Amino acid sequence: MSADLLREQLELRRVGPDLEAALAELFSALVAAGDDRSFHPHPFTPEAAAERARYAGLDVYCAAVVAGRVLGYGMLRGWDEGYAVPSLGIAIHPAARGLGLGRLVMEYLHCEARRRGAPRIRLKVYPANAAAVALYRSLGYEFQGEERGQLVGYKALPARP
Ligand SMILES: CC(C)(COP(=O)(O)OP(=O)(O)OC[C@H]1O[C@@H](n2cnc3c(N)ncnc32)[C@H](O)[C@@H]1OP(=O)(O)O)[C@@H](O)C(=O)NCCC(=O)NCCS
Repeated sequence: MSADLLREQLELRRVGPDLEAALAELFSALVAAGDDRSFHPHPFTPEAAAERARYAGLDVYCAAVVAGRVLGYGMLRGWDEGYAVPSLGIAIHPAARGLGLGRLVMEYLHCEARRRGAPRIRLKVYPANAAAVALYRSLGYEFQGEERGQLVGYKALPARP
């Protein structure tokens, strides 16, 4: 990351209309790095960025933002469709990995899920995606079976007080 970016504060926030272009840039960087082969919750296109930026529903789309650049992207989906247990997805900009952003976005999503009363979180990950599998295990996810070649993991959340 450039020195300019390092001087700026990190923000974790909902994706909103002002982040459309920055989110599209992150999506394009993920595709350029080939990450859409291991993580494909939706197409990583400018249209998908526009949709996320305008989204107003029960699901959660969040961004880790530094100086207007989206370096991390996370989601919890399922509430819109009526599920009690949301599915989590996350991606960090290829140039900003290994800095703890992935763990931070995960903790934010856990907090959001607990705040909304979810009993647990579900996710899917390819067994060969070593970084993601290690991150999820370290956060207490337990894998139970496979779905279309991906491990299915769950993490129980403490009940709301
Ligand atoms: C998986 C991903 C989100 C990790 O993000 P990150 O910001 O680099 O992760 P962090 O720096 O927060 O590291 C958190 C943990 O991840 C694991 N990890 C991260 N990079 C790793 C690597 N290269 N090899 C093995 N483990 C790794 C470690 O357990 C690490 O814990 P530590 O900090 O105690 O070492 C990131 O690699 C990514 O965006 N990958 C592409 C998209 C993707 O595959 N998403 C998951 C789809 S299921």
